[in-house]
Amino acid sequence: MTTFRTLDDADVKGKRVLVRVDLNVPMENGKVTDVTRLERIVPTLTDIAGRGGKVIILAHFGRPKGVDPAQSLKQVVPSLAHVLKRHVAFAEDCIGEVAKRAVDAIKPGEILVLENTRFHKGEEKNDPDFVRALAENGDIWVADAFSASHRAHASTEGLGRVLPGYAGRTMQAELEALEKALGKPKRPVVAVVGGAKVSTKIDLLENLVSKVDALVIGGGMANTFLHAQGVKIGKSLAEKDLAETARRIMAKADKAKCAIILPVDATVAYHFENNAPAFAYGLDAIPSDAMILDVGPQSIERIHGAIDDAATLVWNGPLGAFELHPFDKGTVEAARHAAKRTRDGKLLSVAGGGDTVAALNAAKVADDFTYVSTAGGAFLEWLEGKPLPGVEVLKA
Ligand code: 3PG
Ligand code: MG
Repeated sequence: MTTFRTLDDADVKGKRVLVRVDLNVPMENGKVTDVTRLERIVPTLTDIAGRGGKVIILAHFGRPKGVDPAQSLKQVVPSLAHVLKRHVAFAEDCIGEVAKRAVDAIKPGEILVLENTRFHKGEEKNDPDFVRALAENGDIWVADAFSASHRAHASTEGLGRVLPGYAGRTMQAELEALEKALGKPKRPVVAVVGGAKVSTKIDLLENLVSKVDALVIGGGMANTFLHAQGVKIGKSLAEKDLAETARRIMAKADKAKCAIILPVDATVAYHFENNAPAFAYGLDAIPSDAMILDVGPQSIERIHGAIDDAATLVWNGPLGAFELHPFDKGTVEAARHAAKRTRDGKLLSVAGGGDTVAALNAAKVADDFTYVSTAGGAFLEWLEGKPLPGVEVLKA
């Protein structure tokens, strides 16, 4: 796993370096609303520029069907320049004459963003002709978009077949953190998995039970497991048709000697809304017209205990309806506890996946975790144990 080439192995001086990054940042009214992904790529870009390479950025934005000005990367350039504190040039196409002229125009040590790779059909098809067209503007390829590495696209995978490829600093840090979390972890390993649905995380749960020592299940998906065990969950969100799947996962965990830690009580409400009156109930007493919106106080204590027992923690997904007060309590308290154990040097903690980063930010502990991935789908596929095409292609 750690046998991939990194920037340390790359001679970038005077070279045209095609750098695949993730500029797929949240945007409102043409303004970037969260620059985390931009900040993450700074070390890679300044490293290459500082060593006299031409930094030629390739990235996608959104999921356009063909050229669409609303999904132009031009909108991201001012924010990237701001984060980098330097000028960033832009070209209106990522291949052909337009791209070539822009690449010729920048000097070694300068930075250029090429337009959205997904404006061309060949990107998502990983079309060899499109790969070659991209490769014409580069001598080497640096992959620094772990969060897009589950896509076998031209700029995320294809280029690694035709140019010498290297992991950028962010990709390297991410792969090293993930290796420590599930590759060769210090045991015991505890996984915390939450979120609304079992259906989107079946593969992930099946993989985790074979790798970790304990699995904490929270969020809406815990309701499905409770229901599968015969608990009356009232009007709680659940996928009752997946009861059999939940039982299969529990049986697999049992065989693999992975403890499944389900809620032992619940915080319920009668309305799914902010500041709805909340009540704590034991699992044998959930009112038939109420819904579970968070793990209860005794469950939080149990989760703290599981975290105390762990040397390594992998976290994906909130434990309750964390976007609503006070149903963020379970997620926030467990996250704070993990953060404290990490600060005390007792725990290696890795978190990632869509809502997870938002939840950790809301708990103000994202900086205290050992590593927080900005990847959504790629982090999930990694948790599922699937090979990521954009990582595989980097292996020496
Ligand atoms: C992301 O935002 O998760 C990545 O950039 C991948 O984007 P995609 O899901 O559109 O491929
Ligand atoms: Mg996505």
